[in-house]
Amino acid sequence: MKKKNLFDFWAQSKPAIVTLVLISSVINILYLTGSLFMLEVYDRVLPSRHLATLAGLCAIAATLFIFQGFLDFLRGRILTRVGLHLDQALHDRVYNLIVRMPVSARGSTDSLQPLRDLDQVRSFVSGAGPIALFDLPWMPFYLTICFIFHPLIGLVTLCGGLILLCFTLATDVMLRTPSRAGSFHGGRRNALLEASRRSVEAVQSMGMMDRLGIRWKHANDDYLESQRIASDIGGGFSSASKILRMMLQSAVLAIGAYLVINQEASAGIMIASSILTSRALAPVELALAHWKSFVAARQSWARLSSLLGAADIGQERTALPAPRSALSVEGALWAAPGTERPILQDICFTLEAGSALGVVGPSASGKSSLARLLVGVVRPTRGKIRLDGASLDQWHDVGLGDHIGYLPQDVDLLPGTVAENISRFTSNVSSERLLKAAQAAGVHDLILRFTDGYDTRLGEGGLVLSVGQRQRIALARALYGNPFLIVLDEPNSNLDMDGEKALTEAIQNVRERGGVAVVVAHRPSALAACNLIMMMNDGKVTAFGPKDEVLGQILRYPVHSSVNASAPGIKIVDKAGAAE
Ligand SMILES: Nc1ncnc2c1ncn2[C@@H]1O[C@H](COP(=O)(O)OP(=O)(O)OP(=O)(O)O)[C@@H](O)[C@H]1O
Ligand SMILES: [Mg+2]
Repeated sequence: MKKKNLFDFWAQSKPAIVTLVLISSVINILYLTGSLFMLEVYDRVLPSRHLATLAGLCAIAATLFIFQGFLDFLRGRILTRVGLHLDQALHDRVYNLIVRMPVSARGSTDSLQPLRDLDQVRSFVSGAGPIALFDLPWMPFYLTICFIFHPLIGLVTLCGGLILLCFTLATDVMLRTPSRAGSFHGGRRNALLEASRRSVEAVQSMGMMDRLGIRWKHANDDYLESQRIASDIGGGFSSASKILRMMLQSAVLAIGAYLVINQEASAGIMIASSILTSRALAPVELALAHWKSFVAARQSWARLSSLLGAADIGQERTALPAPRSALSVEGALWAAPGTERPILQDICFTLEAGSALGVVGPSASGKSSLARLLVGVVRPTRGKIRLDGASLDQWHDVGLGDHIGYLPQDVDLLPGTVAENISRFTSNVSSERLLKAAQAAGVHDLILRFTDGYDTRLGEGGLVLSVGQRQRIALARALYGNPFLIVLDEPNSNLDMDGEKALTEAIQNVRERGGVAVVVAHRPSALAACNLIMMMNDGKVTAFGPKDEVLGQILRYPVHSSVNASAPGIKIVDKAGAAE
């Protein structure tokens, strides 16, 4: 088993980074071309009036400038590719993270934040910001040359550099809070918009549009305000650094002139050092101009690292044989992430192959939470769910998915054709398997009545299905490939008589072929093909046993829609119960 390390990316990018450091070194040396050219023109060509020397110098300078331009272009291209490589290395894990997020975060945050974070880091890495970071270490080199020209020139440049460095540190510290606030308010703004879009029918029909619009405007105002503060800070220091650099350049020229008058330096040194000062401080100025995006990218990277580090997505697992004999739940307890109070506790039961369990209980008793736990959408906080002895977390996600059929309570089909939806977007799907699943769910005739049959497109711009139709196609999707475990959460909530008949037959089929079915139901018609019943209340199992006995007791001893625990004949399950 090998867990992908988030920082593998940096290890893989090492050759590119080393190349960038080397290229930056050559570029920084080549930056001297302009100053040295001027030095030579002033101190050699002008006094000697030698045109051939001038022509030679021009040719050398032109060659060096062209070479520098080429390297600069190359450096930009490498950085763009490092950015793309970063995206390629992480996008599948970010996709996984976003798709899973609603389960744990329940839409309370901007679910696309990790993608925005990845975009932020990639665009920073691909932009001009890192160039400044590669050039910054060369400042001492230029300073040394300034000192060689004249200590006074070196000293003035050093002071300028120190002031700019203080600007950079101040910018960094002052930008942290508004940058963090910006991404928080941006996330809040987007989450509100997403939620309004999801519930558009209720929002529109009951006049909530304007009221939610006002809330969104407040969130947007907060976002813009934090952006404004960040821009003011970044822009302010950036302008100050630009002016300071220009002032320093003139100051060095003035000092040079003073030294020339006192015959302590040549005119060439005066001009060259002025250019060199400007060059020495240029990376700080460039860095300051990009510091806002640098701080944002750093925070995005920190968020991504902790999210991706916490999720063990990408873990490679040893393939296990298909389950054949039993599903067992051992002392499962589940509390929603970030909460203390368990939503499910002390859940213990075993279902042998060929059994179907009906789960009943009042609203909010934890039936759907149990269904999510059984199919591995959420993991038990304590205890284990096992298929043939292997706990669900020992399975690879994709491998496990092949053995599970799940019909969630809120059915939503995905953009694609009916066939793609039923076959779970498998490529090269065989018509035989597809038709088998549709027939098992009793939806074959229903699908044939669509204009394009199995190739009818659903989702954006496609056919709009009724809730009952969606539920039946989702049942076919759950049955596709004859998975061992079928979990159906209120599969009959929107079904007509035909649909309910098909459902009962489908559950019966699962039992006959040696699978295990768990059916959550409010309406008893869904329980027709079940041989076991489990009653839940307040997250606990209050009764478990053969259907007739448990239902009989419910009718005989009705206690607020839950089974009387002391009713005779009903097995109160506190250890792993057995089927039949
Ligand atoms: N992700 C979650 N975060 C926080 N609380 C949750 C989460 N999922 C479920 N709950 C809570 O757990 C309790 C049980 O919810 P669940 O959906 O399992 O009930 P249910 O028995 O399926 O109800 P219904 O019959 O209405 O579908 C509820 O109080 C719900 O608020
Ligand atoms: Mg439910």
